[in-house]
Amino acid sequence: MKKSIVNLPDQKSAGRRNLKAIAEHLDFEMPQHLSDLGEGRSYYVRTYGCQANVRDGETISGLLEEMHFHPANSEEDADLLIFNTCAIRKAAEDHVLGEIGNLKPLKTKHPEKIFAVCGCMAQEEGIVRDLIEKYPQVDLVFGTHNLHELPELLEAVMKGERRIAVYSEEGKIIEGLPSRRIKPYKAFVNIMYGCDKFCTYCIVPYTRGKQRSRRMEDILREIRTFKEQGGREIQLLGQNVNAYGKDLGMEDGFTKLLEACAETGIDRIRFYTSHPRDYSITTIEAMQKYPSVMKSLHLPVQSGSDEVLRRMNRGYTSADYRHLVDEMKARIPDITFTTDLIVGFPGETDEQFQETLDLVDYCQFDSAFTFIFSAREGTPAAKFEDHLSQDVKKERLQMLNDRIGLYAKKNNDAYVGRTLKILCEGPSRKRTDVFSGYSEENKLVNFAGHDLKEGEIYDVLITGAKSYTLDGEAVSGHLENKEI
Ligand code: SAH
Ligand code: SF4
Ligand code: F3S
Repeated sequence: MKKSIVNLPDQKSAGRRNLKAIAEHLDFEMPQHLSDLGEGRSYYVRTYGCQANVRDGETISGLLEEMHFHPANSEEDADLLIFNTCAIRKAAEDHVLGEIGNLKPLKTKHPEKIFAVCGCMAQEEGIVRDLIEKYPQVDLVFGTHNLHELPELLEAVMKGERRIAVYSEEGKIIEGLPSRRIKPYKAFVNIMYGCDKFCTYCIVPYTRGKQRSRRMEDILREIRTFKEQGGREIQLLGQNVNAYGKDLGMEDGFTKLLEACAETGIDRIRFYTSHPRDYSITTIEAMQKYPSVMKSLHLPVQSGSDEVLRRMNRGYTSADYRHLVDEMKARIPDITFTTDLIVGFPGETDEQFQETLDLVDYCQFDSAFTFIFSAREGTPAAKFEDHLSQDVKKERLQMLNDRIGLYAKKNNDAYVGRTLKILCEGPSRKRTDVFSGYSEENKLVNFAGHDLKEGEIYDVLITGAKSYTLDGEAVSGHLENKEI
């Protein structure tokens, strides 16, 4: 069998990209001769990582179904198994490589099965080489910029060619790709791809390319279609949504987009991820003005120490962040905040870690994703001197999680006795009289009720609080078989 590598990514040149150029926009068309390539074959996509990857997973599923592949009942049954990977931390990456390694016996037993690897790990030169050289069970590796080429790539593999295609340098914007949304009432909507921020620890600008914004009319068309089909909630996606449109020459693009999204009449709008440096006051005003813009904000801070923030290249100070949070709390009293934090950044002192705890005390987040720093090859921070032992890092992580948990519980306790609006995501897997869903504040609520419909919004009285979930009872819809 033939193996070929097409355009391996050059991570070293990624930092010197021309950030001014506007990305090329193309419309996708399924090659006619490939539209029944998957006839009689099943597929399974296993997705890791962030919402960008989840959305890519939906696109991959959409493409495959347009080629008449059908969803497999399990990974073992699948004729085509795709690992949609994440590269953000080394440990998670090693885990995925282990899982790919475990596929070897299955491939030996069923050589006709196709195994593919895509996502952010498929944008890393070293990983791609390893996959080709050391994992013969892998038939195809394709990067984040060439999802739209999947039909041709699969055709090549099915004809007996083992082809590796990775384009890391510059991605185009491809409109009109099919997709199979995981939930018909909740949509991830990409508003931009890539990231130009180059935080010193982060691999994303190398795996996802430079920032490329979609045209506003394309985004709005997607949202209107989704709404017409009964959609309730959209989640606008980008690595730094507040910078939306800058690459298209737009001023205040994100606020304009947010307002236009609200004007479509969709019930709920959320957005991920915000960057404190690019947050504009007009966006806060739009949040105040439109009830459909949810009053919960994921605002990663990473550290409470100015020195660490500087070495991370985050572009704001701890005081700037506090000021932003204060401003939002003053204007939107019910707002909830979540964040991301990294402990054990190279050289982080006890005092600097303490500053992170102080910031947590000040902001009292509703919850946080917390991580131990992971050195990613090719990023500047991977070369920073790191004296901290793994034990110290783990200890700091534990202390931080304890502190976060304290405020999470305290904040949740304050909801007991209140009625929240929950978008029902269906009954729990174990009990049909217990449902779950998210409130406007983005609280996960498990609640009692009967005959409630997935995708509908219900009033739910909160009866109990845990650190990261709330319990309640539906007070609109049906409860104990009574109409209420
Ligand atoms: N674009 C988003 C987040 C992208 S990655 C933002 O800027 O906020 C999600 C989170 O992973 C980051 O916020 C950061 O906390 C964490 N992360 C990224 N790179 C990391 C690394 N090398 N080690 C540990 N955590 C990391
Ligand atoms: Fe990574 Fe920073 Fe870009 Fe977020 S803003 S994706 S942390 S480089
Ligand atoms: Fe992971 Fe890539 Fe997202 S590295 S966090 S899947 S952008």
